[in-house]
Amino acid sequence: GTAPMIAPSILSADFANLAAEAAAVARPGETRADWLHVDVMDAHFVPNLTLGLPIVESLLKATDIPLDCHLMIENPERWAPPYAEAGAHNVTFHAEATENPIGVARDIRTAGAKAGLSIKPGTALEPYLEILRDFDTLLIMSVEPGFGGQKFIPEVLEKARAIRKFIDSEDLRLLVEIDGGINADTIEEAAEAGIDCFVAGSAVYGADDPGQAVAALRESAAT
Ligand code: DX5
Ligand code: ZN
Repeated sequence: GTAPMIAPSILSADFANLAAEAAAVARPGETRADWLHVDVMDAHFVPNLTLGLPIVESLLKATDIPLDCHLMIENPERWAPPYAEAGAHNVTFHAEATENPIGVARDIRTAGAKAGLSIKPGTALEPYLEILRDFDTLLIMSVEPGFGGQKFIPEVLEKARAIRKFIDSEDLRLLVEIDGGINADTIEEAAEAGIDCFVAGSAVYGADDPGQAVAALRESAAT
């Protein structure tokens, strides 16, 4: 397949130094991240509160790494398209947060970004299989959304294996991303299950050298 992609999550970075934290994984070469993962939380869909559109707009000016915006928010109908209009590369929202995922995906694409659908660890994949043509990425959560530094839930890899089969049989163009508890100990089994893109927060920004952590994770996922 394609080379594994690494998306460091700035949730585990220093929020007072976001430009420098982005730059740490933006230097050309093997230490460069593919995407920068930005966790937007509204204290309603999840119990935590992080950042919103103004900070994403500032980050877009501060880095050339494509921003992978993961919206853990209610009412994505209203709040997701502005992230696409601002210039985010991916805008991912949660299946559990809307009755109209296709409509939200189309609005994101119309605004010029890739559309992503995310499902929590306890959410089944089957009801969404038929709408995945309207999406560019599927984000499988491997922890309960809300906080960094949690333990990987290996049972979600069943969904990764199932979607990989479905993509192959239906000839879908869909990137499969995993988010939560990805580190040197868990990335290999996730890669074996068919994941394309690995989000890693504490494993990258908790490391002494975030760029080296990106390179090491990519290497582990490739073997
Ligand atoms: C959790 C967030 C994740 C989080 C991952 O709700 O969606 O992106 O930052 O952090 P780690 O890699 O530390 O589990
Ligand atoms: Zn995330």
